[in-house]
Amino acid sequence: MTILNGKEIATDALAECREQVQALEAQGVTPGLAVVIVGKDPASHVYVGSKVKTCADLGIYSRRIELPEETSQRELLEVVAGLNADPSIHGILVQSPPPPQIDEEEIIRLIDPDKDVDGFHPVNVGKLVMEDDSGFVPCTPQGCIHLLERAGIETAGANAVVIGRSMIVGKPMALLLMGRGINATVTVAHSRTRELARVCREADILIPAIGRPEFVTADFVKEGAVVIDVGINRLEDSSRKSGYKLVGDVAYEEVAPKCRAITPVPGGVGPMTIAMLMGNTIKAARSSMGQPEGG
Ligand code: GUN
Repeated sequence: MTILNGKEIATDALAECREQVQALEAQGVTPGLAVVIVGKDPASHVYVGSKVKTCADLGIYSRRIELPEETSQRELLEVVAGLNADPSIHGILVQSPPPPQIDEEEIIRLIDPDKDVDGFHPVNVGKLVMEDDSGFVPCTPQGCIHLLERAGIETAGANAVVIGRSMIVGKPMALLLMGRGINATVTVAHSRTRELARVCREADILIPAIGRPEFVTADFVKEGAVVIDVGINRLEDSSRKSGYKLVGDVAYEEVAPKCRAITPVPGGVGPMTIAMLMGNTIKAARSSMGQPEGG
């Protein structure tokens, strides 16, 4: 059994990003990322903190915009409109989930598709469906693919089962897996899927993304499967200073011995997501200079 070390693979990807940032700097452009967070959700603040810190490590300019819980739709739209018009900002990300008064879809549609480094805007979703490389691919599924590729996992013709159909992970994950270059046979399972464990046992590559702690148990997993655990869930743990521990959607201890390879939580998909965000921000900066390819 191989533990797929996302932190290590992400570190390599970030080293490449650092070089690319330096190359852009030499041409007089500093990539800029705006991260907008509304409200106090503690997990979201941790993620945003990691994103901003990684920007600083790479030499990417970042602007963290923290808005109060009671921020109105109109106020948030105005913030996004300002960032769309700001030439020092190449990428815009509004951390999800926002508070309930916010219509997230309307916000996403307002973000300039050329600055939509999350890949959530309909233009970028459409480009992903059409396999048009000029768009932005959502960071988490992009990170999962990168991890599979770097780990040398054979995907062509493999049965891949994605659990979850979210816009952030499940749907784009399925599209990437079935795409040219990956060529997996994809099943998307969700809360209404019948005989879920049986469906999952068909998987050569199993990708749970449902946000339910330790939901995937050993009976979901075929001997020799590759498991990419997208879940990051907080479980109460009074023995820790933080008061919680992080677990994935997979019951790691019982599942890992059956696997050919598995990602840990933390240290699996999470660091990959941030590395892909950095890559998307660099891509946005390059495109703004009329250099969509290479460089
Ligand atoms: N919340 C969880 N994952 C993500 C992500 O990839 N982007 C944004 N904006 N919010 C998230």
